[in-house]
Amino acid sequence: MRFYPFRCWPKIGLLCLCLTLTIACGGGEKTFTRSKSTSGPVPESPHSLTFWGQTATPQRIILNLTTTPATSQAVTWRTVVPVAHPQAQIAPASGLSDFDKNARSVAADTETVTLDDGRMLAHHAVVFDALAPDTVYAYRVGATGAWSEWNQFKTADDHPAPFKFVTFGDPQEEVRSKCSRVFRAAYQHAPDADFWHFVGDLVDNGDRDAEWAELFDAFGWIPRMTPMIFLPGNHAYPNRRRVKPDAFRIFDLWRPHFTLPENGPAGLEETVYFLDYQGVRMVMLNGNEKLAEQALWLDRILSRNPQPWTIAAIHQPVYNTGKWRNRSTLQDLFVPIFDKYAVDLVLQGHDHTYSRTYKLKNGTRVGPDEPGTVYVISVSGPKSYPVGPQHAALMEKSGTGRQLFQVIRVSQRHLEYEALDAAGTRYDAFVLKK
Ligand SMILES: [Fe+2]
Repeated sequence: MRFYPFRCWPKIGLLCLCLTLTIACGGGEKTFTRSKSTSGPVPESPHSLTFWGQTATPQRIILNLTTTPATSQAVTWRTVVPVAHPQAQIAPASGLSDFDKNARSVAADTETVTLDDGRMLAHHAVVFDALAPDTVYAYRVGATGAWSEWNQFKTADDHPAPFKFVTFGDPQEEVRSKCSRVFRAAYQHAPDADFWHFVGDLVDNGDRDAEWAELFDAFGWIPRMTPMIFLPGNHAYPNRRRVKPDAFRIFDLWRPHFTLPENGPAGLEETVYFLDYQGVRMVMLNGNEKLAEQALWLDRILSRNPQPWTIAAIHQPVYNTGKWRNRSTLQDLFVPIFDKYAVDLVLQGHDHTYSRTYKLKNGTRVGPDEPGTVYVISVSGPKSYPVGPQHAALMEKSGTGRQLFQVIRVSQRHLEYEALDAAGTRYDAFVLKK
């Protein structure tokens, strides 16, 4: 969700007018209640707001990290009907049952998406700001009569401190059926992960709402509690060979579902960005378009990087393992920059294999105590490709046919990496030292 002040109001105003007229004429159920954004809890209605039998209960609720994760937090959700005064409420969490008595309300920004079947959906977003670092907050989203449950999240520390996050390769296919178990295994293994990270291809066809429904079904309530960050894979775009160049752009369903940082190159907001988390600069790249612009931007943001650790991520691998694949363009553009700033780790997907290189510099293996970069490719979904021979000499570990997740623990002196499979069995591990 991009934040354009007032851009959406004409559409939303029209939708709300239609809703009001419909209810006034006797259409729909009569639980619609107008409300203003207020401080303090709003009484619950016994029924969710409904409209032509469809509920306004918030769905697809997801937390995303901001560029200031110690003091702000983004949340995005959608409703399948328009609602008046969408908002979120937040209060410091406590064990007391009246923790919500001093909740503050924040009005949402709303963007509408029209699906191919004509359904018009409303995606809402709020960025909570002025939060305290390292603090647990409770929040809920919705509108009068149609609230979510209260969920909780914890803000980041405002200085380098040990933390862990989970990173996933492509889910892409059989997301509800076979990726849900990976997500649940990851949550069981690291329930206190500070955030989850994905390297793209969340779904196979990024323009099909039913596939996004599968993804959120597979996530369950985890994205309501654990903030997530994403970058787009090629399946967030149309097939380049089947569209004219001016139609090659990210599908309309990507941005409304998330509220991701907008500090990347122009035109690549929410797909290319960086944020600093407790001593790590996390850099998301978009391997689908404007690569040269991204290389310039990457050089600039890494030249002013005060964080001791740097982790980059891109969907398409720099050193492919998928048979018949080789993307030398990415090597030419990005490896000199990764080398120049000794990026510690590059997380990738796309090949539907697992591989982890030795520490590399300029495409050559270096010693474990020398500056260099480890490149990982992984996959969380069931789709698998055979491992090709093209970069076998660079790989310390490779394989295929296994659904995996990775847990990364970072402290001042160590980065501990662990890859586990869907059954919770350790598949790979290594440690980087500063
Ligand atoms: Fe891909």
